[in-house]
Amino acid sequence: MVSLVTGGAGFIGSHLCEALAEQGDSVIILDDLSTGCRENIEYLSKQGLVEFIEGTVLDADLVSKLVERADRIFHLAAAVGVKLVLERPLHTARVNIWGSHNVLEAAIECGGKTLLLASTSEVYGKQNGECVSEDSLSLLGPVSEIRWIYGASKLIDEYLAQAYLHGDGDDAGASGIRLVTVRFFNVTGPRQTGAYGMVVPRFVQAALRGDPLTVYGDGKQIRCFCHVKDVVRAVMRLVEQPSASGQVFNVGSDEPVTIAELAERVLRITDSDSSVVYIPYSEAYGHGVDDVARRVPDLTKLRKFLGFQHRYCLDDIVREMAEYYAVRGDASLSKPS
Ligand SMILES: NC(=O)c1ccc[n+]([C@@H]2O[C@H](COP(=O)([O-])OP(=O)(O)OC[C@H]3O[C@@H](n4cnc5c(N)ncnc54)[C@H](O)[C@@H]3O)[C@@H](O)[C@H]2O)c1
Repeated sequence: MVSLVTGGAGFIGSHLCEALAEQGDSVIILDDLSTGCRENIEYLSKQGLVEFIEGTVLDADLVSKLVERADRIFHLAAAVGVKLVLERPLHTARVNIWGSHNVLEAAIECGGKTLLLASTSEVYGKQNGECVSEDSLSLLGPVSEIRWIYGASKLIDEYLAQAYLHGDGDDAGASGIRLVTVRFFNVTGPRQTGAYGMVVPRFVQAALRGDPLTVYGDGKQIRCFCHVKDVVRAVMRLVEQPSASGQVFNVGSDEPVTIAELAERVLRITDSDSSVVYIPYSEAYGHGVDDVARRVPDLTKLRKFLGFQHRYCLDDIVREMAEYYAVRGDASLSKPS
């Protein structure tokens, strides 16, 4: 099996490449190193387990050549992180929409490929019911709130994927492509950088340094954090299932925690005497952010489809990240955004 992973030098992508190489796949990585880094895949490269191509998914010719060589494509490359999206909304739209368009075009052109599209819980927008299922409505905020460009661009990707899969008129379904969409909910674990606003690495690193843990907003926001290894297992099993094609799956954890509780938990697990400070979003990001009060996935579909069970709880994740950052630090924290 030849697997192409766009965004493979990133956080989730590098864990995925590791698992694919472990199962014997030939792995090609396409990454522009904008938020990912070589260190994430260094040992895989050194052992010759992956072929790394530095380039962008905006380069349609390059994408086309690489897709042609692959049996399966995991499309993870994207502009991500609230901080980055607020600072570079146009870049976000370009990479997330045109990049996905290039990958989809190439996969359809070649035919017979399996494609996994990485989407996000952000496509549910301000939807904050008890838990959101794949059929829940998308309630994106107003266009004046630029942060929604991320969720909107990913939602367009999802519609594009469905349109490509369906095809037009006589061509409908003719490419023989298999396509599955996954909506990730707050994936975290070792190698995730706090540089673009991700909360768990930010808290763990601050706790280890003895710096204050900075909570944005009132800390009552509810989130569920899933270990990247659980996510990778789910993704790898989904692409193996022909009947997953055309479907959308929530992938994450459904163990809810408020951000204030998360901060306390990080302090307890790292045995840190750091303080916890609260700042408004406007101070954190330069202007206000329309945040979502509660984001908990309904995982019924994933559990039924795969019989999926998580191996890690939040305490495991924090413990593992504390061990990781205590030894390694976070080299990518200094990357420009
Ligand atoms: N981590 C999460 O909690 C989460 C949640 C929802 C969705 N996702 C999705 O999962 C995927 C991976 O995210 P991640 O958390 O690993 O973030 P990440 O920033 O570590 O990974 C993204 C990777 O894409 C690369 N990239 C960006 N623009 C590119 C371009 N134009 N061409 C080629 N490569 C490019 C980056 O360098 C990086 O390596 C993304 O599609 C993201 O939207 C992640």
